[in-house]
Amino acid sequence: MYNTIDFSNLSQTQNEKPENIPPRTGDIKKVLIHEKLKSLGISVDKDIRLGDFDQLGEMTARKRRDPSSELYNSIGAFFRPNYERGILIYTLIKKYNVKSFLEIGFGRGYGTFCAAMAMHENGGGKIVTVDPNFNKEHLDNLSVALPKEWFSMVSFMAGKSEEYLSGNSEKFDFVYVDGDHTYEATKKDWEMCKDRYNKLLLFDDYHLPGKIQKDIDCSNLIDQIEDDTKELIIMDRRIFFDDRGYSDDEIDYGQVLLTKV
Ligand SMILES: C[S@@+](CC[C@H](N)C(=O)[O-])C[C@H]1O[C@@H](n2cnc3c(N)ncnc32)[C@H](O)[C@@H]1O
Repeated sequence: MYNTIDFSNLSQTQNEKPENIPPRTGDIKKVLIHEKLKSLGISVDKDIRLGDFDQLGEMTARKRRDPSSELYNSIGAFFRPNYERGILIYTLIKKYNVKSFLEIGFGRGYGTFCAAMAMHENGGGKIVTVDPNFNKEHLDNLSVALPKEWFSMVSFMAGKSEEYLSGNSEKFDFVYVDGDHTYEATKKDWEMCKDRYNKLLLFDDYHLPGKIQKDIDCSNLIDQIEDDTKELIIMDRRIFFDDRGYSDDEIDYGQVLLTKV
């Protein structure tokens, strides 16, 4: 019904945590997602159907709050973890007429299917998503719930990015790096993808210097990349009305875009 390839038995490498990873500098050009979308000719209020992202997010990304947290009491049990990434991916694909998209790290599919929605509207394309942990039952449910035309564009590659990337030299218009977020793994993904994107490369989970989360070291690597186009797009979940209780301090991470067009 859909295209899944399992290559996970090819190698069993583990990423060791290096003793010294470069420090984060936070020295990066920054732009708020609203401003970035505006520069691409898109107004969140007028041009984006937030409901489309909410519906997709409901099936592929929604998370549950910790019942002991303040927001669980004051706002509710569920939240949208960075649904803005989908709005950004969708807009970039439409704007740059992206025909091929490689995603490292499928998760539950939000990035993939926001890309599929945009590519379908563009007239079609090809999506490869790589993840060692696909859940067959979840994919089966999505294959029934989502349009067939979206599914037929996607190849699900079961395994680690390193294994997939070392087996071919294919290039893509747009590469989205959102798999293993440790320093070593992000470094490998970058090294194996830096010559493979024709138009755009986007990293997820760049944390501003104050935000510390175990095994999320993408910023340590991204701060080392020398590229004049590099820009941090600060994600702001307050795009969605019922997340407007967040304080400025909690808006502390984003995605980093490199552009060749
Ligand atoms: C944050 S989720 C991805 C979210 C998804 N990109 C989205 O936008 O909805 C990270 C995923 O990366 C996967 N992952 C972990 N290590 C990986 C690796 N070495 N190669 C590819 N994917 C990996 C995990 O299984 C997990 O599903």
